[in-house]
Amino acid sequence: MKTQIAVLVSGGGTNLQALMDAQSRGELVSGEIKLVVSNNPGAYALERAKKAGIESCVISKKQLGSQQAFEEALAAKLEEKGIRLIVLAGFMSILSVGFTSKYPKRIINVHPSLIPSFCGEGFYGLRVHEAALRKGVKVTGATIHFVNEIPDGGEIIDQKAVEVLPGDTPESLQRRVMEQAEWILLPRAVEHVAALIQNS
Ligand code: GAR
Repeated sequence: MKTQIAVLVSGGGTNLQALMDAQSRGELVSGEIKLVVSNNPGAYALERAKKAGIESCVISKKQLGSQQAFEEALAAKLEEKGIRLIVLAGFMSILSVGFTSKYPKRIINVHPSLIPSFCGEGFYGLRVHEAALRKGVKVTGATIHFVNEIPDGGEIIDQKAVEVLPGDTPESLQRRVMEQAEWILLPRAVEHVAALIQNS
């Protein structure tokens, strides 16, 4: 049976799109994207899921009142759908150790830098690229890693370097890192881990 996958999102959802496109092209075969969960009701990623005919829902910490209530609702939904692999694709919230410890090597994250640079609490989205430009690094990139109790601290699955070019803005750098690294690495890593789970 294919590994049932949930993709957790918060915003634009271009990484979700890359995963859904890989599935359509037959490059994601060991797993199936069964569910998209957003913690933000306004996320454009929800539109993308709808267009692709993939079930989606909003689970909001703001509406539920606490991190614990959010994680309980999330775990219940994942259980209901038989999810065995969770992919954080632009999910801008840190999961507690109570949650992550329930899914060892079953949660994958994409981070827009070469870990251990520009990662950990406070480094997400454009902030990561702002920090890289502020530091003046000439090379940055993206990392795919398992999620554990340390923010951006789990085992690294794959990484790819991307050049920083003169005149880059956080936006132009973000776009290049997505195009040259994230959208290629994430579907590949998800297929790899989905296959491991399928055969376990
Ligand atoms: C991506 O660059 C992703 O790597 C990053 O946010 C962006 C989301 O874009 N994630 C993090 O910073 C997590 N720490 P998307 O919604 O278009 O996929």
